[in-house]
Amino acid sequence: MLAVQTRRLGKTFRTGDLDVPVLHEVDLAVPRGAFVSLMGPSGSGKSTLLHLVGLLDTPTVGGVRLMGRDTRRLDADGRARARRDLVGFVFQSFHLVPSASALENVMLPMAFAGVSRHKRKKRAEALLEEVGLTDRVKHKPNELSGGQKQRVAIARALALDPPIILADEPTGNLDSKTSREVMTLFSRLHGEGRTIVQVTHDEEMARYGDRIIDIRDGRIVQERDRTGLVRRVRPTAEATDGPTTALGQVADVRLKREGVRP
Ligand SMILES: Nc1ncnc2c1ncn2[C@@H]1O[C@H](COP(=O)(O)OP(=O)(O)OP(=O)(O)O)[C@@H](O)[C@H]1O
Ligand SMILES: [Mg+2]
Repeated sequence: MLAVQTRRLGKTFRTGDLDVPVLHEVDLAVPRGAFVSLMGPSGSGKSTLLHLVGLLDTPTVGGVRLMGRDTRRLDADGRARARRDLVGFVFQSFHLVPSASALENVMLPMAFAGVSRHKRKKRAEALLEEVGLTDRVKHKPNELSGGQKQRVAIARALALDPPIILADEPTGNLDSKTSREVMTLFSRLHGEGRTIVQVTHDEEMARYGDRIIDIRDGRIVQERDRTGLVRRVRPTAEATDGPTTALGQVADVRLKREGVRP
C-alpha cells in the first residue's frame, strides 16, 4: 500500500494579478514504510509539495491520497482530522512553544486531540525517553541545544502515533554531527515501520533515505537510490543529462551512476 500518492498534483499561487505556477503534474508515490528524501534548488517547490502532502495547503489541480484514503472530498474538519491521525510534522526551525517545557510541548498535540492529562504525560515522557531526552523534560526550548530542540519536535510529531512523518529541512539549522544524530533517529523510526518524507539540501542527509527524489522547477525529474543509481527519469526541458523518453512517460533506467557530490 502507498502511504502517500499524488496524482498530477499542481499548485499555482496567485500574488496580486499574477499567477505563479509552482508545482506541475507531480506524481509522487511513497510506499508504506519508505524513507524518501526530496532534494532540489531553493524555490523548486519542495516545501509547497510537503505542505500539500500534509494537507496544510490545497492543490490547484490533482489530489493527494494518504494511507490509501482520497483526501480530495474532505471538508476542513475532515482534513484536520486526517492530518492529525496520519501525519506528524518536523520543521527546520523546530516551531516549539517557547514558554512551554519539553514535556509540555510534546503533550500539546495530545491535548488538542482530547487525550487525558495523565495519559498525555505518560506518553510524552516515554517519547522523550525514546529520543534520549529524559534528563531535559523540564527544560524550555531556549535552554536546549538545536539538536535537543529538534528531538523534542520529533517526539511531538510522534505524539499521536502517525504513520507518516513529514520533515522540511529537519537538519537545516544543525551542525553536521547533530544532523547525523537526528538522521540516525529518523532511521530508527523508519526501522520501526514509519513512513518518512524529508526535504533536505544535504546529499549526505538525503542518503539516510532509501530513495532520493530530485525536483526542479516544480517537477519531479528523477529518482535515485542511496548509492546514486538513477532508477527513474522524468524528463523536462531542464533535464538535459540522462536518457530521455517521451514527455510525461516514466522510464526505468539503470544506466547511469551519479558521482557523490561533496
Ligand atoms: N504562499 C505563497 N504565495 C505565493 N508564492 C509562494 C507561496 N509559497 C511559495 N511560493 C513560491 O513558490 C515557489 C516554491 O516555494 P517553496 O517554498 O515550495 O520552495 P522550496 O523548494 O521549499 O525552497 P527552499 O529550498 O528555499 O525552502 C517559490 O518561488 C515561492 O516564491
Ligand atoms: Mg522550503
